[in-house]
Amino acid sequence: MIKFLTFLLFLTQTQYSGWDRVGGNEDNLHYSSLAQINAQNIQSLRVAWRFDSGDEYPDSDMQCNPIVIDGLMYVTTPKLRVVALNAATGKQVWSFDAGQKRAPHPNRGLTYWSDGSQSRIFETVGSDLLSLDARTGLPDPGFGDKGKVDMRLAFDPPLRNTSLSVTSPGVIYHDLLILGSSVAETLPATRGDIRAYNVRTGKLAWTFHTIPRPGEFGYDTWPSESWKTSGAANNWAGMVVDEKRGTVFVPTGSAAADFYGADRHGNDLFANTLLCLDAATGQRKWHFQAIRHDAWDLDFPCPPILIRCLRNGQMVDAVAQPGKSGYLYVLNRETGESLFPMEERSVPPSTVDGELLAKSQPVPTLPAPFVRQEFSEATVTNRTPAAHDAVLKELRTYQHGQLFVSPSLKGSVLFPGPSGGAEWGGGAYDPETHLYYINANEEPWVVRLAPTEQVGHNVLASQAYKRFCAPCHGASMKGSPPEYPALDHLAGKLTDEQVSSMLHNGGGRMPNFDWLGDPAINTLKDFLLRKVDNKMTLPTPQGLSEGLKYSTETFRTFLDPDGYPANSPPWGTLSAINLDSGEYAWKIPLGQYPELAAKGMKDTGSENHGGAVVTAGGLLFIGATHFDSKFRAFDKKTGKLLWETVLPFAANATPAVYEVNGKQYVAVATGGGRGRPSGGSYVAFALP
Ligand code: HEC
Repeated sequence: MIKFLTFLLFLTQTQYSGWDRVGGNEDNLHYSSLAQINAQNIQSLRVAWRFDSGDEYPDSDMQCNPIVIDGLMYVTTPKLRVVALNAATGKQVWSFDAGQKRAPHPNRGLTYWSDGSQSRIFETVGSDLLSLDARTGLPDPGFGDKGKVDMRLAFDPPLRNTSLSVTSPGVIYHDLLILGSSVAETLPATRGDIRAYNVRTGKLAWTFHTIPRPGEFGYDTWPSESWKTSGAANNWAGMVVDEKRGTVFVPTGSAAADFYGADRHGNDLFANTLLCLDAATGQRKWHFQAIRHDAWDLDFPCPPILIRCLRNGQMVDAVAQPGKSGYLYVLNRETGESLFPMEERSVPPSTVDGELLAKSQPVPTLPAPFVRQEFSEATVTNRTPAAHDAVLKELRTYQHGQLFVSPSLKGSVLFPGPSGGAEWGGGAYDPETHLYYINANEEPWVVRLAPTEQVGHNVLASQAYKRFCAPCHGASMKGSPPEYPALDHLAGKLTDEQVSSMLHNGGGRMPNFDWLGDPAINTLKDFLLRKVDNKMTLPTPQGLSEGLKYSTETFRTFLDPDGYPANSPPWGTLSAINLDSGEYAWKIPLGQYPELAAKGMKDTGSENHGGAVVTAGGLLFIGATHFDSKFRAFDKKTGKLLWETVLPFAANATPAVYEVNGKQYVAVATGGGRGRPSGGSYVAFALP
């Protein structure tokens, strides 16, 4: 019996002691069975090494979760170089440079594959999927075209000029690499097809259409031509494979355009859906749609976690998926049924002509949402009387209330908004205690729709700007940093070449405007860099829904006059939820504004991005907090802060926990950015 128990212990330990993929291990638990660093000795934790890539540039960030295989750590830099480091010393072993001067999109990590004799690292840069030899960093000549596959060519017909990148790494199932994409969220947007490629050859193995074609399941949840005219419904957040069942779980985001769906009446399957696909063929097994006909940008923002928890005395295999909405959906892995009872939450109708919202949305009765669900006058900040009065006055000009307030012409407050709730860091799960951990943001956003400028063929650059750029960068060009950069002071910051490359190629959530052609792009560039408002000729926009009556005019976080969130704290939280019962074990504010903390406002919480890792040593490690740049360790059972340190830059990324030669390390990317100073370093901690 003792022998058997020891064997079981051994099994669980080997299962979760490595960190060979983003999320840590095969179930994406963000859990490590290593216990050398624990609550008793955490006070002696110190920096073991620091690697400075030198690749940072103004406003760059790093979201990469390092992976560690055979003593080598694989990471990306702000310019999307891939670097292999000695995981014990931080010394560079090799570096591969795909030639990006400036990263066009975020990168959350790399994918490793090996068949025992050969091993590969997969990176995505723009629309290119790259295969590198894991030992040397050299491109694999047998993969695609000299180590590279252009993912835009997988569309039928191939789309040579569409904006597509992959920000979260693909997942491996046998010899397949399965990938989603990050695309524009205004029309024209690329369709969010899910694809699998052969890891050896780069050949396309299967495609799943998230916007179904005639004859495919879900086709009737859209207007009949949407599979040609609509876009997005994409998986930008990453996925997880259930090896034993041969399934891949794929969470998707909203359909384009984010805030006005007059051209996509219906529930819009498979947008905002957790898809369970056969990993070998891409066939749908089941699906769960959390938001019908999204008009709020409430994507599934992270891959789910494959958990095991207790139901009626039995262990059940389930999948736990959090949303930007603040709900956690815990579903049976076989059937997709919720483990907790569901109910319908009613949704007020839209006040905007042409929009048709679903009457209700499905929500679980347990666990309770991990962020507030209503912005009322009682939610307004009390930081100072002046801030309170200013916000209250502004609030009274908007539509506001419960989650699912529709975007409107007078302006609507989205709370939770497009930055969550949950974000790309996702949750962590402790297989010993069945506690699920989730960090979240609580900040309101303001969205306003306005009649679309009906632009003729001969227009001023400022008119073209208003029509095509203002939805994201704002009518006054102030953008909504960090999501959408300001464009009002580009002279001196970007060169002619950089602006034109951005317009030709797009990048991240910025669509490409290649279809405008060189003369129009040059005129827009002069407008941005030199404030010259010349006339330009617009070609007919390709695939653009000319008929859309309204587009987004304002999209920004709702802040008080001093730049703090317009709601009362907490502005960021960390929760621990028992998934056997659905009850909260603890919940605390996460993050500080150093200048407010100095004045005694310590428990505000703050915006945070990047996930947690829980360990068998009784600890929960998390960076994530934007403004204090701290790295913290909590007691995983109580939420008590045990240790903290200030990093060189904020760590908006998930840490990795691993072991080399019997020594445990915790490493994290410190990239800052998102409106804060940028860095390009990785820092690893260990006991002396
Ligand atoms: C759907 C939203 C969206 C639209 C529409 C859009 N952009 Fe952008 N734009 C972005 C995002 C997001 C970025 C940041 C991309 C990155 O670096 O990751 C960006 C970046 C840029 C940059 C680089 C700014 C910098 O500081 O590095 C320029 C220049 C730019 N956009 C110009 C334009 C122009 C001109 C238009 C209209 C023709 C436009 N954008 C339309 C989302 C958008």
